[in-house]
Amino acid sequence: MSHFTKQGLSPFKTKRGFLNLHYRFSFPCIFSPSKRGIDTHASHHLDRKPLISDAELRFEFAHHDPAVARVNNGSFGSCPASIIAAQQRWQLQVLRQPDDFYLNRLRPGILHTRTVIKGLINAGDVDEISIVDNATAAAAIVLQQAGWAFAEGRFNQGDAAVMLCHAYGAVKKSVEAYFSRAGGRVIEVQYPFPVSSKYEIISEFQKVLEKVRSDGHKVRLALIDHITSMPRVVIPIKELVEICRNEDVDQIFVDAAHAMGCTKVDMQEIGADYYTSNLHKCFFCPPSVSFLYCRKSETLPDLHHPMVSHGYGNGLPIESSWIGTRDYSAQLVVPEVVEFVSRFEGGIEGIRKRNHEKVVEMGQMLVKAWGTNLGSPPEMCSSMAMVGLPACLGISSDWDGLKLRTHLRECFGIEVHIYYREPEDGEVNPVTGYARISHQVYNTIDDYCKLRDAVNKLVNDGFTCALLSI
Ligand SMILES: Cc1ncc(COP(=O)(O)O)c(C=O)c1O
Repeated sequence: MSHFTKQGLSPFKTKRGFLNLHYRFSFPCIFSPSKRGIDTHASHHLDRKPLISDAELRFEFAHHDPAVARVNNGSFGSCPASIIAAQQRWQLQVLRQPDDFYLNRLRPGILHTRTVIKGLINAGDVDEISIVDNATAAAAIVLQQAGWAFAEGRFNQGDAAVMLCHAYGAVKKSVEAYFSRAGGRVIEVQYPFPVSSKYEIISEFQKVLEKVRSDGHKVRLALIDHITSMPRVVIPIKELVEICRNEDVDQIFVDAAHAMGCTKVDMQEIGADYYTSNLHKCFFCPPSVSFLYCRKSETLPDLHHPMVSHGYGNGLPIESSWIGTRDYSAQLVVPEVVEFVSRFEGGIEGIRKRNHEKVVEMGQMLVKAWGTNLGSPPEMCSSMAMVGLPACLGISSDWDGLKLRTHLRECFGIEVHIYYREPEDGEVNPVTGYARISHQVYNTIDDYCKLRDAVNKLVNDGFTCALLSI
């Protein structure tokens, strides 16, 4: 089937009638390559819409449950109404004429998304970008390749993978399934939480790599989070990548599930081999779409998508752009999302800066009200912050954290993620629970006041997690 080969990229066909009926944006980037182009996101500056007004912003998120103070954008992100509408237009296009869509429009659409991402993350080449469903899929792609390296004799039994102790649980499972199972040894870098400076992480990481080397082991893979999920901390990724290079680590994979829209993402600056970020968390895409960046290199092995289909052997970007018949619409709306963020002062950089400032301000307001502390200094917060909860709430396990989260949702209309931190020996009155708060463009101060007042009420009522039976 010619459309699955590298040569099969066909140009967009314009269908004016269809466009007029279903495409009401002022920049018809899908169908007008001459105007918006499929080659560079720089062309999106044409026909720029005015900055979004407060009323328009409220409309964009009017589908959010008004009864819920949503300070947990970090878990599942958010998608504005205009992007939902754009996604539905793509879905309608498929249903209207599926053969034309799958044979003529899907691949150019995904190429357009890859091109836009290349510009956003300062990659060197569009062939370094593959579009995948989520960070979980990206991790499977990278780790599956590591598993094959053992089977094919490129890695030796006992070769190591190094990762942070707070790496994401599901990704740790992937390491177990692909790397440990194939005979690799996994070493976790421990570091403290709360963390007071990036140097606490850098020095622990350095020590571990030096120790592995002096023990005579080879580190094949470093798996490093850009921003850990729980507890939430921005990791000094540039420094850790540099340590890996100095220590001759074979492959560096950065799991940056939260990063796009939340912190600076620049492939030249970071210098990793593989880097993945979800676009459905802080970048306003519908669930689910992510990119996987793979640095162009003579020495890195070929990666393959675990869902093998017609494109197998044509490179990961091509393999990933057809993994069987399914809904690809989330992958196709990325250019519209770029248009959406351009309607905010400073674009995505402006959004991320304001979210950061606001979340730190709100975090400081909460720790003052509760007499606790932030889990990291502001510069390690991005658009989320870890806020210590009063010790008297009696959070003494992960299960307590989950129960409190449920209680806040069901009894107070607040959605916030809670982290349980195991106290160290001898700690007096330790803070064992942290609320992970986010800030996104739709949040208002009232959301955080609601959380503050709910926790204060629980404290005043003598509540402890032991009283919850759920
Ligand atoms: C650090 C990290 N890695 C991977 C993932 C998995 O993301 P997804 O469920 O979208 O695959 C998450 C999800 O929150 C995460 O925080």
